Amino acid sequence: MLRDGSLEGKVIWVTGGGTGLGKSMVKYFVELGAKVAISGRREEKLKEAAEEISVENVFPVVCDVRESGQVDAALEAIVAHYGECNGLVNNAAGNFISPTERLSHRAFDIIIDIVLKGSKNCTLSCGKYWIKNNIPGSVLNIVTTYAWTGSGFVVPSATAKAGVLAMTRSLAVEWAKYGQRHNAIAPGPFPTKGAWDRLFPKEMSDKVDLESRIPLKRVGEHQELANLAAYMMSDYAAYVNGEVVTIDGGEWLQGAGQFNQMDAITQEEWDMLEKVVRSNQKKS
Ligand code: HXC
Ligand code: NAP
Repeated sequence: MLRDGSLEGKVIWVTGGGTGLGKSMVKYFVELGAKVAISGRREEKLKEAAEEISVENVFPVVCDVRESGQVDAALEAIVAHYGECNGLVNNAAGNFISPTERLSHRAFDIIIDIVLKGSKNCTLSCGKYWIKNNIPGSVLNIVTTYAWTGSGFVVPSATAKAGVLAMTRSLAVEWAKYGQRHNAIAPGPFPTKGAWDRLFPKEMSDKVDLESRIPLKRVGEHQELANLAAYMMSDYAAYVNGEVVTIDGGEWLQGAGQFNQMDAITQEEWDMLEKVVRSNQKKS
């Protein structure tokens, strides 16, 4: 989508960049000229991704985002490797579907710790480093559309993503004076092994018809999300700050609009309804 070289000069840290959507973003960032660092807990996944994409332009760092010490050390290693880091994509996440009453405290905490505390740890480390070194950094937080609607059965994730969105908007204002931008992307469903194993396992796919819930009647393609992320991290988006961009085929609005389910009504039924409504209008 963007011109070759659009991300030249960018050094972007993508947490959870060894798998799924993170890996797809990394691939495209590198194609556009960025140097990228990827982190996660599993070293083999990171190495595999680096070897697949580009050993020269993808630097793998093992780092559990829940641990602030590990996050500081990862940033230090990235800066030592590339000489600078000027972008951060908070993409690492944990999630699974469950009725909330079945969750232990530890199960709820683990999601809050990965998503909210993890994004906070990486943002605070990078933000302070950028302020200290006069670097106009950019943060992109990968949230979800239920960050603002909430959603049953993924309550820890909804709670954490809502916090990440609040952090995005707060720092967009507070740290703009240092030249920083803080934005978010809210994806709808994009098939990945990580998300599908935990949220839409085959055993329940006959109960939830995902595509019928989406006005565009399809799930997202990874490249579509990578295009948007690359734009948000590029200088073409230099004036975009504090924004959350939804990329979901219209899914969340489908559920929100009072009359959206009227799509199911046939033309014949509309003919009949129109007659009834017109007649009622005359009477009232
Ligand atoms: C109830 C569960 C559970 C489940 C785990 N737990 N799975 N409780 N139902 N299905 C409980 C455990 O019993 C334990 O509590 C606690 O959670 C921690 O579990 P561990 O397995 O010890 O944790 P850990 O090995 O650190 O794994 C973390 C994880 C795992 C979040 C549970 O799934 C993970 O590593 N996920 C990372 C990748 C991921 O989730 N990707 C999907 C992102 S998709 P007790 O009390 O028993 O000790 C996404 C998309 C959203 O966010 C939108 C889609 C449209
Ligand atoms: P994924 O492949 O499971 O990605 C999650 C990544 O986070 C993994 O690489 C994982 O690596 C890493 N991670 C998890 N816990 C971590 C920790 N404690 N420390 C460091 N890294 C950790 O899932 P995905 O679908 O691509 O999700 C990517 C992002 O998109 C997430 O923020 C998710 O909420 C968001 N999202 C996805 C969808 C979708 O439909 N796929 C929709 C909306 C939003 P390790 O396990 O090796 O640590």
